[in-house]
Amino acid sequence: MKLLQDRVAIVTGAARGIGEAIALKLAEHGAHIAFTYVSDSSADRAASLVSRLGDMGVRARAWQTNAGDFAASEQFVADVLKEFGAIDVCVNNAGISKDNLLLRMTPEQWDEVMDVNLKSVFNMTKQVIRPMMKARRGSIINMSSIIGIRGNAGQSSYAASKAGIIGFTKSVAHELGSRNIRCNAIAPGFIETDMTHYLKEGDAAKAFMDKIPLGRFGSAEEIGNATLFLASDMSAYVTGQVLSVCGGLNI
Ligand code: NAI
Repeated sequence: MKLLQDRVAIVTGAARGIGEAIALKLAEHGAHIAFTYVSDSSADRAASLVSRLGDMGVRARAWQTNAGDFAASEQFVADVLKEFGAIDVCVNNAGISKDNLLLRMTPEQWDEVMDVNLKSVFNMTKQVIRPMMKARRGSIINMSSIIGIRGNAGQSSYAASKAGIIGFTKSVAHELGSRNIRCNAIAPGFIETDMTHYLKEGDAAKAFMDKIPLGRFGSAEEIGNATLFLASDMSAYVTGQVLSVCGGLNI
């Protein structure tokens, strides 16, 4: 019996990077996958992921929808329920960064990061808790960041959004623990994806590496492994926690 046999999982922003690795990992362990992507340019990658997931023997479908839009998230969850019949796991992974020193940051940049990173978590969580309450089980996993714990120059909006996710996660864990709905956050360190590609070159890369006790960037699959743990009954007594997956950067 696989860890997530016949469970239904939502993953936002899964056409590439960490989201894609999470979708593949949960499917490897038996979960059916409903995932989102936002831009037209991701459509081919999304279609290819649907086909790879299907080859793994699970049901899979992609929706093009903006996680930062409340009405669109409501519609997406209704569609998933219609098509898959249940939602057992919700992984709020979609995220962006618009790095800029505070002196130069515009209100528009701030709002965009808040909408995609933080409001999206509210949008999706608010929709999935009803079916989870009915089923008296559920696991919600929110992608924070070690930047949300430590802060970083040039990343005030990103850090604020990721810190906000942590407060939200703990509050939801308090509110819904009695319904057997768990809510946890993952705080990745530096993970090799398109988002961090630019950090891998030159002196900056060495400076980052020197701060990581394990001496390397993490892989998206390693975030998938942590997500699998929090999604499955292996973590049945874990809620309201922030799991740092950062090679020791956050010690
Ligand atoms: P990525 O940029 O490779 O992927 C982000 C995904 O989110 C993309 O598929 C994108 O299409 C999707 N997305 C963006 N805006 C969206 C929206 N409005 N609605 C739906 N989907 C949207 O980034 P990566 O590295 O895979 O990051 C995934 C998550 O992990 C993000 O929340 C990020 O903040 C977080 N994270 C990443 C770290 C890293 O080192 N790569 C470190 C800490 C946290």
